[in-house]
Amino acid sequence: MILWYSGCGNSRFVADTLSKELADSNMIFIPDAARQGMALEFGPDESLGIVFPVYSWSVPKLVSEFLRTAGFKGKPAYIFAACTCGDETGLTEKHLKKDLSKQGLELDAFFSFQMPETYINLPGFKLDTPENARRKTESTKASLKDAVVLIKERAKGGFNKLKGGSSFLKSNILKPLFYGLLITDRKFRVSDDCIGCGICAKNCPLRNITIENDRPKWNGHCTNCMSCYHRCPRNAINFGSATQGKGQYYFKQEE
Ligand SMILES: Cc1cc2nc3c(=O)[nH]c(=O)nc-3n(C[C@H](O)[C@H](O)[C@H](O)COP(=O)(O)O)c2cc1C
Ligand code: SF4
Ligand code: SF4
Repeated sequence: MILWYSGCGNSRFVADTLSKELADSNMIFIPDAARQGMALEFGPDESLGIVFPVYSWSVPKLVSEFLRTAGFKGKPAYIFAACTCGDETGLTEKHLKKDLSKQGLELDAFFSFQMPETYINLPGFKLDTPENARRKTESTKASLKDAVVLIKERAKGGFNKLKGGSSFLKSNILKPLFYGLLITDRKFRVSDDCIGCGICAKNCPLRNITIENDRPKWNGHCTNCMSCYHRCPRNAINFGSATQGKGQYYFKQEE
């Protein structure tokens, strides 16, 4: 089983690749499973993969909450995690282990992959240049091959090379501030360039957008994944003035 969450497609690409290479087609989208209150059932010798983007040098809150509260029927024989990040993971591995321990589960292996940046909601935060984005994606494609070999062997260990510095400060002190002060949908605005196509609503992982009078309306359950902003074909969405002129990115399958 592969549990996955992705806003802008980077982690979805990693989850899809692992699903294909590990011949495990049982992929479960975490926001759907959370909405349905789905229990996770494991057959004998079945493994569990958990794939997600790093948010504020940690596990996204919605992933943490799901892992801590989901019903487990049976115990996975091997648990691995694969996260994607723009730069660094901080203490993501440690935080994930804590989430799993609430269910009496232990993480066997942790992998991290750099992918193009998606968070641009603060001054100074910007997208990667196209060259940098390509370099990160190509490097991840290569590293995924090594990860697949290790996962098939059911290797144990932290294979995270992206922890970075000052991780206690970032993951334990800045993270609560980030969630408390910055994660909101109240700053989203849509311009007259909007054509009411509904792509933003269709691709919101949290189903937080409704289309009313041919315009998106944000409904207060946002995790700032930025999918709506990045995927709008008219670039009609902005997050206050912070995103203006910063461009768009989401993972496209043909890359
Ligand atoms: C809300 C938010 C917070 C993020 N925080 C971090 C971070 O702490 N460290 C980092 O390296 N990248 C961070 N990123 C970048 C993403 O982890 C990275 O671009 C990831 O590949 C996005 O995956 P997705 O396309 O599956 O959503 C953040 C992105 C978002 C949207
Ligand atoms: S994706 Fe863009 S153009 Fe389409 S409805 Fe949303 S804001 Fe409007
Ligand atoms: S409203 Fe936009 S930023 Fe918020 S969760 Fe949905 S797609 Fe992501």
